Amino acid sequence: MTNRDQELRQKAKETIKRYERLVQRDPYRLVYHLMPPIGLLNDPNGFIDWDGTYHLFYQWHPFEAAHGPKFWGHFVSGDLVFWEEKEPALTPSDWFDKNGCYSGSAVADNGKLKLFYTGNVKNENDERESYQCVAESEDGLTFTKKGVILHVPDGYTAHFRDPKVWKRDGIWYLVIGAQTKQVDGHVLLFRSDDLKEWQFAGIVTGSNVRSMGDFGYMWECPDLFHLDGEDVLLVSPQGLEKQGYLYHNVHNTGYFIGRLDYETGELVHGPFKELDRGFEFYAPQTTIDRYGRRILFGWMGVPDQGEEKHPTVKHQWIHAMTLPRELKLVDGKIYQRPVEELKQLRKNEVSRPSVKISEHPQRFEEISGEAFELLLDVEENQAEVFELTIRDNVRVIFNRGLKRLTLERVSFVDGLTESRHCELAELSSLHLYVDTSAVELFVNEGEEVFTARYFADPANRSIQFKTLHGSLTASLKKWALDSIMKK
Ligand code: FRU
Repeated sequence: MTNRDQELRQKAKETIKRYERLVQRDPYRLVYHLMPPIGLLNDPNGFIDWDGTYHLFYQWHPFEAAHGPKFWGHFVSGDLVFWEEKEPALTPSDWFDKNGCYSGSAVADNGKLKLFYTGNVKNENDERESYQCVAESEDGLTFTKKGVILHVPDGYTAHFRDPKVWKRDGIWYLVIGAQTKQVDGHVLLFRSDDLKEWQFAGIVTGSNVRSMGDFGYMWECPDLFHLDGEDVLLVSPQGLEKQGYLYHNVHNTGYFIGRLDYETGELVHGPFKELDRGFEFYAPQTTIDRYGRRILFGWMGVPDQGEEKHPTVKHQWIHAMTLPRELKLVDGKIYQRPVEELKQLRKNEVSRPSVKISEHPQRFEEISGEAFELLLDVEENQAEVFELTIRDNVRVIFNRGLKRLTLERVSFVDGLTESRHCELAELSSLHLYVDTSAVELFVNEGEEVFTARYFADPANRSIQFKTLHGSLTASLKKWALDSIMKK
């Protein structure tokens, strides 16, 4: 451990201590979502189920509720439900990562846990440099940096980051986000026998690659994996134009389904599909777990999207992770469902079978709260429009005539109502995880997902149901949810 590393760790501890009370006093602290103890959290990193423990690292800037030189924060869990915060795994303490230990991934190799990450450097002329680095650990708690393993290839700029590594048939592969000198976003594939020497294999896909037209100036956080018989590339391209209901956030995340040629690096793929329809979702990462499930965590935030306006900034913290979601491929589309284990958090079940919802706004006894799970199974829908309003801030609207599902919220930037939509042929169920300042909505068993932060009056716990033109009958179930942090 270098002096600089010790200094940074010490300073992070002191900052936590100094602001602990301010952070804890925030009514918007979440109950069952992972948050930074202080400062800013962004991407999930190094997600792995290793030796009986789930490890989730994250981009962390402890010193401000804003972006800065990132650490890798570290959460561990035995069961994907209850988590414990550990010492940070990496600090930006070396020449090759002094301006941030940026995003990356973890693999198990020879009894060691190895982290691959991007060292972000601003040189003396204030220009960006990027180094792909490795760190390893025998106990999964303390990591030794081993330095640089990969440099920016010819034809690409220093926007070269976020390595995701995996093994297939005894060979290691790595995908990474890149930007060409013509300012097109790409994903590149590299190959290695020993995790040290890496050879360029080819361009996976990218903006203006093969049949792709213009598709963004930089692609961040790629993840490539096999899911239900297909290869999937998950990626966050920057610079997409709005198109109908698509790409309304400042930066967006989606996936391609296809077949990867491991020799040429080429992914022959179909169209890009948006992964999440809400306001705050970016840079997700997956791993395969002990049960063979493909599990995803996303960052419940978007870079440069009103970040400084989040009310939590005044309490010295910002952002959170989504819940862990299991991925499945159904008819060429990724379905996301909250992992089964989350049922362990449920308490105080309230059940209302076959409730008829009509034009007259209705509230139901005990169906209210600020940190809860709500399941609505549609039995019969003859309403033109169905609306569910949470805490007078978030509204879910299904318009049967327009075949459209909408999530509305009161903007935390200007107080106006803003919305995101997707097409939806029919509504069969809504599964909502509502936390003090976050909502995750799973529609029709994960066919569509909307993720958003919202900042309602903390005293408001109301949930209201109503329709327009006709009624809807549904069964309702609600549970209060417990905290996920172990002390
Ligand atoms: C995505 C991202 C990554 C980068 C990291 C820095 O949100 O910009 O590309 O590695 O965040 O924190």
